[in-house]
Parts: sequence; C-alpha cells; structure tokens
Amino acid sequence: MLRSRFCFCVLCALAVALLAALFLNPAPAYAQSKPVSFINDVAPIIKENCMACHDAKKRSGKYDMSTFEKLMAGGGAGSPVVAGKPDDSDLHDLMVTREERRMPPRDKGEAVASEKAAIIGKWIAEGAKLDAGIDPKADLLRELRIRWKAPTPAVAYKFPVVVNSLAFTPDNKSIVVGAHHELTVWSLPDAKLTKRIAMRAERAYAMVFLPDGKLAVAGGRPGQEGDVRIFDIAGTKGKTEGGVEFLDGVNDPKVMVKQLLDADDSVLCLALSPDGKHLAAGGCDRAVRYWDISGGAVAAKLEQTVENHADWILGIALSADNKLLLSAARDKTAKVWDLAAKESVMTFPDHQDVVYGVALNKDASLGFSIGKDKQLRSWKPGGDAKQIKNAGGHGDEVFKIVAGPKDLLATSSADKTVRIWDAGLTNTKTLTGLTDHAFAVAFSPDGTLVAGGSFAGEIAVWKVADPKEVKPVALFNATPGLLVKK
Ligand code: HEC
Repeated sequence: MLRSRFCFCVLCALAVALLAALFLNPAPAYAQSKPVSFINDVAPIIKENCMACHDAKKRSGKYDMSTFEKLMAGGGAGSPVVAGKPDDSDLHDLMVTREERRMPPRDKGEAVASEKAAIIGKWIAEGAKLDAGIDPKADLLRELRIRWKAPTPAVAYKFPVVVNSLAFTPDNKSIVVGAHHELTVWSLPDAKLTKRIAMRAERAYAMVFLPDGKLAVAGGRPGQEGDVRIFDIAGTKGKTEGGVEFLDGVNDPKVMVKQLLDADDSVLCLALSPDGKHLAAGGCDRAVRYWDISGGAVAAKLEQTVENHADWILGIALSADNKLLLSAARDKTAKVWDLAAKESVMTFPDHQDVVYGVALNKDASLGFSIGKDKQLRSWKPGGDAKQIKNAGGHGDEVFKIVAGPKDLLATSSADKTVRIWDAGLTNTKTLTGLTDHAFAVAFSPDGTLVAGGSFAGEIAVWKVADPKEVKPVALFNATPGLLVKK
C-alpha cells in the first residue's frame, strides 16, 4: 500500500529536490510579489513627483517624460535607466541620493517617499519594461486617464455637495446641479429630485443648455483631467427608483452623446454665443477653445485655440457678432481677443488680483469683470482698457457673473448673496437666503428667475422682476439623501 502512495523513481527525486531548493532558499523580496507594472505603478509616481518640470512644455534639463520612449531616452545627459541596475540608474538614484543633486531639486520639493522610490527601483531591477499593448510613443498622462474608472455616485451623500455650477432647463421648470460625479435635476418650485445623471467628471464647473436642448458640461478632476462633454438628459428613459430616474452619462452613448475636449486638468468655464452657434471653454491649461456648433454640438468643429493668459482661465464671454472673446484669469487680468483678426486687443489690469468672471452687454459696447478684489467693474471691450465704472461689488470675493434679460447682470459672492445690476451697474437687488459662499448663479431662459448655489449645497431661486422681493421662492439643499444634522 505504501508503495502505491510514494514513488521513489529518479525523476520524482529530482523534482522534490528542486522544490525543496525553491522553498528553502530565501529569494530576494521582489521575486515573491507580482512584477511592477510601468503604467499602473511607475507612471503615477513619475506624474506625481516629476512631470511638473519634465513635461513636454518645461523639459527641465532637456528631459521630457511625457511618453515612455522619451522617459527612457532621458535629457541632455542621456538615458537615466540601466535596465536591471537601479543603483546605476539616475531615474532611481536621483530619488534616493543624499547628495545635493537629488530630484526634485531640494529647494523645489519634497523627496519622493521611500516606498515609492523602491517601486521605481524594483521596476528597473525587473528589466524596466513597458506593459504589453501600450505604444511607447503614447502620451502617458492620457494613458493614465484612460485607465481611471469613475466611481458610482453615492445613493445618499455624507457631506453636502459643493455647488460649482447650475442651469435652468429650457422649459424653466427645473434646475440641473453639478454634484459629485453626477448631475442632479430638481423640479421647481417643489424642489423634488427627479433625475440623477452619472458622469465621469468629479465636478461640473460650468454648464449651459445648447439650442438643440442638449447640455454642455465642463468639469474634471482637479490636477488629473478635464473635459467638456455633451449630455442628452431628456432623450432616454432611465430606470426609476423612488420617483427618481437614473441615467448613465458615463457609459451610455445616448446620454453622453459627445466628448468635445479631453484635457490634463479641469475645464472651468463655458460660454455660448448669443446666436447659439459657437461654444467656448477655458480652464487650467490656460487655453480657450472655440467651436463652431452651428451643425449641433455632436458635429462641433474646433475653430480656434486661444492662448492669451499666463494662468488658469476662470471665466469667458462671447459677443453677439462672434467677434470678441472676453476672458478672466488667475493672472489678475481680463482680456479681449478679436476672433476675426486672431489677436489680443485689450488687457484690463485694474483688479490687481484674481479675475473670476467676465460678461458683456447685448451690443458689446460694455465689458464687465469681477474678482477676488470684491469689485464689479466695467470697461470698453474694444477700447483703451480704462475703467468706466467700479460698481462697488460685494462685501467679499465675487465668484460669478452672468448676463440676463434686458442687459441685467447677476453676480454671486463669498458674502452669501446674489446681486442684480442694471445696465448702468446700479445694484437693484441683493438676494439673500444662502448661508455659505455663493459659487454659482444663473438666469432662467425666460428671464423671470435667477438661481444661486452655495458651497453648502444650497440652491436658492428668486424672482427677478419685483425690486422689493428679495426672499427666495424656493430654497433647498441639492444633496441627494443628505441627512442634515440639526
Ligand atoms: C521643480 C522642478 C523639478 C522636478 C519636480 C523634478 N526635476 Fe529633474 N530636473 C530639474 C531641472 C531644473 C533639471 C536640470 C538641472 C539639473 O540637472 O539639476 C533636472 C534634471 C533632471 C535629470 C537630468 C537630465 C539630464 O539628462 O540632464 C534627471 C534624470 C531628472 N531631472 C530626474 C527627475 C526625476 C526622476 C524627478 C521626479 C522624481 C524629477 N527630475 C523632478 C527640475 C525638476
């Protein structure tokens, strides 16, 4: 019986000896775990710690790390990677060295965390290979973006949503709010949540309904990615639960009908031309894109990419004749770009601090800007950059400005109010009810209502007409399922 259970032949004896050798010899640490993946493990560390100076634009030390091929080729001093030898590879050595030459440069940033440097070392020790199926010439930031999957929005939020943007639906009967990885739709005036549209962007920084009823949304994940996407939020029927309809704006091409822009960082602002034929978007990459959407947003044609600012673009506006593009930026200026001549025609410097937003009156004879300096100022878009009026603005930073019917303007501020201004920049109404920074403001398409959204998730809707009525006709928290502590 024993014989049948144990075999004593030479082959088996060899196999046993081999197995024993494998288990008894202490193998180096890296042989016991799974191999390091360049794209999943290495590239995120490079992106986090090195790319700020070694991207295609800056190329510090003539070293561009934006593709695998370039990362391996190195800069002026040649390739910093010797496959199999982490200690001879500058890519790893510069992260861990005690010498002055460390990267990032000692005066410019923290050392790479030791466990992360160890991953780079292990990857080089394993042969410094690129994962199968990736083009060595592919843009690494883009490859990282492709691999990221949007989370499903929480059924009930633990914290109030930050309302960065909102828009009335074309029928004036509901409000769309930018929430966390989703858009939510609330009916008016009863403030019932009727629809939730999941989206890839963590935040919606700007949104605007287009003439064909589709919704353009600009957003992103801070420091990771940015986008402009076109949604059809009314054309498809989603599954309904508890009176709320759910649409999948991440995967369903009938809901997310077009992606207009894919950027490396957040897209922060949008402008639709008054004739509805052009759309512009601006954001952290300091550029404004200008599309012809006269054939519908799905067939949008990029006409111009305007790089006229030294820092993030925070607000834009287009004139009715599609000639002027106004922009507000973190570089403390408002600027005017002539779209026909393709040149910068004016820089308005008076805010001397971050300019958050710009607007135009109907005939484009006046430009308006607001900013961190708490002021609302007017100037001539084609003129000499001299201020025409400082309206005084708000009691705190002014975040948004929108133009409405009859040349009215609405502004929203950290002072928790929304204010209405007439064409001469007289403050006709100060609207109250919000209890936190008012980040978002929008007029209804029929011009009768104005809505503000706050840092604490609140939405307030006011009537525009009656100058004495300053209390909201609707005030609610646009955070799905939030259990508000009393
Ligand atoms: C704050 C900016 C900055 C950051 C962040 C930074 N570097 Fe550098 N790097 C430089 C500058 C400037 C040079 C050129 C001067 C020098 O060699 O000191 C350089 C040069 C290099 C070189 C030599 C290039 C050549 O061929 O001459 C290597 C290799 C390098 N960096 C690797 C890295 C790695 C790896 C990281 C991330 C862990 C990193 N750097 C992060 C600024 C930066």
